[in-house]
Amino acid sequence: MCGIVGYAGKHHAVPYLLEGLEKLEYRGYDSAGIAVNEPDAIRVIKTRGRIGNLESLIASQRHSDATVGIGHTRWATHGKPNDVNAHPHLSEHGLFCVVHNGIIENYLSLKAQLIADGFHFASETDTEVIAHLLEQNYDGDFVSTVRKTVAMLEGAYALCILCRDFPDSIVCTRWASPLVMGKNSDGVFLASDVTAILKHTDDVFYLDGREIALIENGALTFFGPDGAAGEKQPKHIDWSVSAAQKDGYEHFMLKEIMEQPKAIQDTVSPRISSDKRIVFENFHLTDDEIAHLNRIVIVACGSAFHAGEVGRYVLEKMTRIPVETAIASEFRYRDPVLDSHTLVIVISQSGETADTLAGLRLANEKGAKTVCIVNVVSSSIANEGGSVIYTHAGPEIAVATTKAYSAQVAVLYLLSGYIADRKGLLTDDARKTYVDALLKLPDLIDQTLRDCDDQMKKFAELFIPMEHAYFIGRNLDYACAMEASLKLKEISYIHSEAYAAGELKHGTISLVEKGTLVVALAACSDVFGKTMSNIKEVKARGARVLCVSTSENAAAMNEVDFKVIIPDTLPLFAVTLEVLPMQLLGYYTAKSRGCDIDKPRNLAKSVTVE
Ligand code: F6R
Repeated sequence: MCGIVGYAGKHHAVPYLLEGLEKLEYRGYDSAGIAVNEPDAIRVIKTRGRIGNLESLIASQRHSDATVGIGHTRWATHGKPNDVNAHPHLSEHGLFCVVHNGIIENYLSLKAQLIADGFHFASETDTEVIAHLLEQNYDGDFVSTVRKTVAMLEGAYALCILCRDFPDSIVCTRWASPLVMGKNSDGVFLASDVTAILKHTDDVFYLDGREIALIENGALTFFGPDGAAGEKQPKHIDWSVSAAQKDGYEHFMLKEIMEQPKAIQDTVSPRISSDKRIVFENFHLTDDEIAHLNRIVIVACGSAFHAGEVGRYVLEKMTRIPVETAIASEFRYRDPVLDSHTLVIVISQSGETADTLAGLRLANEKGAKTVCIVNVVSSSIANEGGSVIYTHAGPEIAVATTKAYSAQVAVLYLLSGYIADRKGLLTDDARKTYVDALLKLPDLIDQTLRDCDDQMKKFAELFIPMEHAYFIGRNLDYACAMEASLKLKEISYIHSEAYAAGELKHGTISLVEKGTLVVALAACSDVFGKTMSNIKEVKARGARVLCVSTSENAAAMNEVDFKVIIPDTLPLFAVTLEVLPMQLLGYYTAKSRGCDIDKPRNLAKSVTVE
């Protein structure tokens, strides 16, 4: 949420800053700005709206030769998205300039004290407090002034700071919000997300919490929280630059939908040994601990929570351990009962979602075993989990997740098979059947995407004029309905709701009238007949029904108006195929309605505020 970039090197900073901001725009797009060190002053250029507005504003002003600068793209938390609240923020006399991701929780008391001390505030942001505090705490030493200042802050921050007295330097620090940096012969590049600097280097340094980095004359020095300078090893990033580009697709979302066969292949196949066993690297849950687990709790937000809903069914079915799911923002404040026999599975694409991270910390504090399913390497959740299983989905840029969601589900299949196997619940044949079916998923995903692409373009036409839609299903189909409904509403702005199919008649069916669109997910053969009964109920009230199921049920789908048939796989895995036409439905509907698909209104990728 919000994007930060910085550059200090041999070349003009502005083009590098704009290039980085464009890559990060998916993290926030209310306003954008840059600050550069010019001979006499720090020059700030900022505006509300997208990076395009900032580019036009910069083009209309005098050229800057500055070689050191910072930039920001904002998702508003404190104060409206206007020019004044846009980052960067200058201190009272322009000595310091700050860009910030996160939220300073004690900013009101700090602001009151600063006002009493004679400081004036231009913006409504929490960030401006930091700029003024830096000036108030200034002792002539850039790094020690930053250390003194951040010690006064409560909350989350990733900060990049310029100081007029140190025109060749940038100082950065962070707590609970990520920052990454790397260098090449052109200079030092920094960002809140590795995708913004991958083009320049794939050996990067992730800043640890409360660590401070000083970028000065092309050198990078790291100081631990105690102030001591220390060595830091770079991490090599495998993601290719092209993975973070559109590659001819009109939108990142479509590209990422089409990348799902590869994402699942890359996630599953390295975890299958030659004797068809599921194996994980750096997995710290012992067989004895697995044998003594009496409960599993899955904690996540949004689509990651929906992946967890799939996991709930699959894990419970396979391992016979009771499983519950918890929305992270609820879980963290409900004083949950957890002990060393509870396994808490935390799911997050970004690895930085504030509520999910807090849920993980709570589980760790209470002594539960924790396993994290994460896409972004070395993110906070990956670093703090008892064990981490990475989804190898590659960078996901579209705000609406698709390939990361599917990769999360794939890891949950792996984990379910692994735990069941370690508990001795699988015969050799059952294990091989399960693993073989998992290995076939990438091909089936590819086939499903090819088969239903045109069909979903056509069905999207039905949804264009709609204001409401309902998604129903039972068991795994209900888990899919939740994700399908979110995919449609978040990018097309059509109101939609997901219901357990049998629950609709307990109230919501009163909203169904002639012409209402109902999407029925009906790939679970064991409850197909039951779902068909619910389809009849809505048909009787005039609904038009689009139904997704498998070929074995095709003949029995005579009640429905529109059919989508997915390929056959194991019943537990059908949901992975069933979600694909739903992603395409959301995408094509939003496209036909002229929506900004990759950057839907009010949203941003990576929700680092609670
Ligand atoms: C919806 C979507 C969000 C995320 C949620 C959690 O398409 O992408 O609902 O799933 O914000 O994000 P992560 O997985 O980064 O924790």
